[in-house]
Amino acid sequence: MRKILFSLLMLAAAPVLSAQTYCNLLPEPVSVAPGHGVFVMEDGLSICAPDGLEFEGGYLRERLESVFAFEIEVADVPYYNGIELRLIDGMDPESYRLEVGEDRVQILAPDAAGIFYGIQTLLQMMPAQVYGDGCMELTRFVLDAVTVDDAPRYGYRGAMLDVSRTFFDVEHVLRLIDWMAYHKLNRFHWHLADDNGWRIEIRRYPDLTRKGAWRGDDEVSPAAYGQGHGRYGGYYTQKDIRRVVKYAAERHIEIIPEIDLPGHSRSLVGVFPEMACDMDVPYITANGETDNVLCVARKENYIILDNIFREIAVLFPSEYIHIGGDEVDHTSWNNCPHCRAMMKEYGLEGPENLHSLFVYRMEDILHRHGRKMAGWDEIINTDARYDSTARVYAWRSVESGRAAVEKGYSTVVQIGEYCYLDMKQSPAERGHSWAGIVPLSKTYSLEPDEILVGSPADSALIVGVQAGLWAELMAWPPRLMEYQYFPRLCALAEVGWSSKTDRDFEDFEQRLYNKHFSRLYNMGIAFRVAPPEVAFDGQVLDVRVPHPSVVVRYTMDRTAPVASSPVCRGEIVTDRPEDFRFAAFFGESLSSISVGASNISLYDYLEPSTVVKANFPMSDKYLESLASRDGVGLSDRTLRAGDTLAYVFDSPVDCSRITFTSGAPSSGMFYVTDAYVEYVTDAGETLNAGVLYHGELTFRPEAPVREVRVVMTDSNDAYTAVFRGLMIEK
Ligand code: ACM
Ligand code: ZN
Repeated sequence: MRKILFSLLMLAAAPVLSAQTYCNLLPEPVSVAPGHGVFVMEDGLSICAPDGLEFEGGYLRERLESVFAFEIEVADVPYYNGIELRLIDGMDPESYRLEVGEDRVQILAPDAAGIFYGIQTLLQMMPAQVYGDGCMELTRFVLDAVTVDDAPRYGYRGAMLDVSRTFFDVEHVLRLIDWMAYHKLNRFHWHLADDNGWRIEIRRYPDLTRKGAWRGDDEVSPAAYGQGHGRYGGYYTQKDIRRVVKYAAERHIEIIPEIDLPGHSRSLVGVFPEMACDMDVPYITANGETDNVLCVARKENYIILDNIFREIAVLFPSEYIHIGGDEVDHTSWNNCPHCRAMMKEYGLEGPENLHSLFVYRMEDILHRHGRKMAGWDEIINTDARYDSTARVYAWRSVESGRAAVEKGYSTVVQIGEYCYLDMKQSPAERGHSWAGIVPLSKTYSLEPDEILVGSPADSALIVGVQAGLWAELMAWPPRLMEYQYFPRLCALAEVGWSSKTDRDFEDFEQRLYNKHFSRLYNMGIAFRVAPPEVAFDGQVLDVRVPHPSVVVRYTMDRTAPVASSPVCRGEIVTDRPEDFRFAAFFGESLSSISVGASNISLYDYLEPSTVVKANFPMSDKYLESLASRDGVGLSDRTLRAGDTLAYVFDSPVDCSRITFTSGAPSSGMFYVTDAYVEYVTDAGETLNAGVLYHGELTFRPEAPVREVRVVMTDSNDAYTAVFRGLMIEK
């Protein structure tokens, strides 16, 4: 009696839950049927995990103990009032039933993966702190009775990470794997070698990582993407790889390794120059890489590749190994005497066919090591027919996906305009945009069946979906990787898991705000918070606060709001709307980009008559372009110390602020890494405005300005540097 009374008191003191514990599940399950009553979790709670489910039992205990004040026993027989994990026959792979009843919780599944996904759903019913490090100390928690029957739409639900262009260490990768597991994702595509770094230890060729994993002034590869002059890089030892593969497998995630060949091979060619074609015509690929293609005709290359893949096949138990195959520049093959002779000998029409021949040979090597081959969609550019087990990753377009299924290949959908999470989430944010702006709603709108429209192909050939993160821009700001993945990876997880008819973006967004952002926050993810929508109606700034879980703060001096800025509750009456900036804050550490009203112009720019001069090679057309605010100008060569670009005004300009920016307008790449800015006043004095930070500087001139000069102090790290017109505020 005392115990019941005590429980009732506890219940009264506990915060009132506004929604049932089984709401806000993500990805949306197939079916959720509310039951009667509640299940009380309190001291004495146990987990039954029979043979084969030891890991799952321990995993669930660890998570639950992070919110409870008591310890939880894991046994191999069910107890009254416990959580039972049980394998049963007759269900589809990876499916599960989660039944919360008054006297027990049961998770039934045909396999350990299904049990694991049932556990994930159960965790989503707990307080979001269940993902954290354990400071909650609950003595009881009440779950509403419910039955969840659930199964994935696709067997392949993946995330790809490029660790070549920006290196992410083992701890980063393990965290990503945890986050994927919480979202019921089951494939990690590890892009381990590309132009910009070889990231996997190969015992037979230690130079691949001793040299090929590093960039910098004295390294095989020059610095790139604004990384400056320090030594930069890293790699995984085989011990690291084994650890990650095991960690992922425990969480029911298979790792598909990729070595990108025969293009994107600069890090390999940098270490073994003899693997490239025999020619002296240098070339630069669309990505700004030089000489990055393997010679197809050189026999020794296949011996090296065979040795490399032998070690990779030992490390990775995955069904498929990915050989890349994308974006091959044909200049070297067209010019190499050996490649030309090979085309002639085999009667090949052109370099595309040489590409196919290379892929055939890779397939053969992989088969010899007991693996199937996967590659990007260019591998089917010709009429080549690989083994029926080859898998195509469609990235270029819906049409390239359609071509893959029509040729009968199993196909993973990673189409750029939906799935490339290196694309910007809105125009003002960091990221690429060549595949478009990819907001959360765009990723969510991916419907893989679209590639089947008008096609007789078998829908079963679409094995699943994958989000990809290419890492040219990931080196800064810190934790951009998390910002780019989340919450877009949550959207992709729902596309991969939930049935087509259960998907609704507004409902998904509500689940994010209602609970899932709290989960991500407790996972420790620096996810993207969407900025508020702000409009001015002539008198009032109308600020849409998206959800009560988000706080909008503002400033009145055009600076970005910080955690101590005043809170905005909806409307602000003002006659200076252009001075207001707003940002959304989530929890103590996350905030959105700062925005002003979207329907007015926020800056009053001056457009003084300007002549631009450079003491380094830059074409007249670019110099002319740079005279205007939205102008762009590319240097004709890598910059050097002492190079100077001057913006000279016809008459002194009286202004409040001047901003110098560099880098491509679409992505920020090729910015000026090492320079300072000085300006000449109307009195003829030269004043230092400061050094560039990531290619940019804003300053407040002390007097009217006659001239602004950008003075380079070191070389930049690309074959060109992109300058932009000055932004001069009244
Ligand atoms: C790719 O984005 N080149 C696969
Ligand atoms: Zn060649």
